[in-house]
Amino acid sequence: MFALTRNPLARRVLRPAAALVDRRIERRTGPLRPEINTLRREVAALREGHNAFGLLFDGTARSGPRTPTPAQLDTLVAQVTRVTGAPRDAARRNVVIAYRNVIALEMLAVGRLAGSTQNICGKLATVPLLAPRAYRDVLEIGTLYGLFSASLMRMLHRAGVEPRMTIVDPLAGSQLQPGTREAADPTGTPVREDVVRANLAFGGAPGAEARIVRGFSGDDDVRARVSDREYGVIVVDGDHSAEGVRADLEWAEKIAAPGGIVVVDDYGDDRWSDVKSAADAHLARPGSRFALLGAASTSAFLRARD
Ligand SMILES: C[S@@+](CC[C@H](N)C(=O)[O-])C[C@H]1O[C@@H](n2cnc3c(N)ncnc32)[C@H](O)[C@@H]1O
Repeated sequence: MFALTRNPLARRVLRPAAALVDRRIERRTGPLRPEINTLRREVAALREGHNAFGLLFDGTARSGPRTPTPAQLDTLVAQVTRVTGAPRDAARRNVVIAYRNVIALEMLAVGRLAGSTQNICGKLATVPLLAPRAYRDVLEIGTLYGLFSASLMRMLHRAGVEPRMTIVDPLAGSQLQPGTREAADPTGTPVREDVVRANLAFGGAPGAEARIVRGFSGDDDVRARVSDREYGVIVVDGDHSAEGVRADLEWAEKIAAPGGIVVVDDYGDDRWSDVKSAADAHLARPGSRFALLGAASTSAFLRARD
């Protein structure tokens, strides 16, 4: 058939029949023409809108895209509800507010938040629902760009707690993970104290007053400085090796306030399988003060006994 239409003689012979077919198609589709043109204009406008949407929410210079599906959000809300025992409405409200914070802060941030959208929103939504009101001290071990601390301070503040933040991280110019070779950060931003300070400003007055202790969580001098108080919330997100997680949890046993919460980040994340095995081994130890409340996305939440 294609060979026939390419042959000049055949094309001349077929031309009247083709013209007839064209006229018939034109007669049928003619009345639809305005509607087709309108649809074309609408599709072009949607494409432009979608392009702008992509610029705001895609994964460029972030840990990944910030476009959770309704099903993923429903799953997260169900997990937050289960871990906290809070009403479903409260869990959904916190997940939505957390998402808005992630979008707003990451757009203006120097650097990025680490983790998937569900991972970050799960932590931000859950902690304010679990944190003991009597203790406003919060410790983050491993901060990278400080943006999670800033977001968490905002979420706690919304819940009526004016937090006092302590951050431990070597802030050595790039992310350090013993035993792994970190690729260049997608942001291109150095991991430095001035960068963390710029992001902590999003945490308002508690952000400006946050205490940054530079060094590794296992360093004696770091531990001595940070162990001057009891913490209502401890986020373990530094050294992701089995040894690192084990050491951080052992330390957390000593400095967690009665009823305090420990967040073990990247628990159950296949890329950091040592985190879960080390945390599970710690929880199985006789004499641990910590009890596992459950997990939301890839974070486990522990409660310290008195
Ligand atoms: C996964 S990032 C933290 C992400 C951050 N919490 C967030 O949610 O955006 C891990 C950070 O911990 C730091 N780190 C590695 N080992 C550490 C240790 N032993 N003590 C404190 N920080 C450590 C890394 O250099 C990096 O900045």
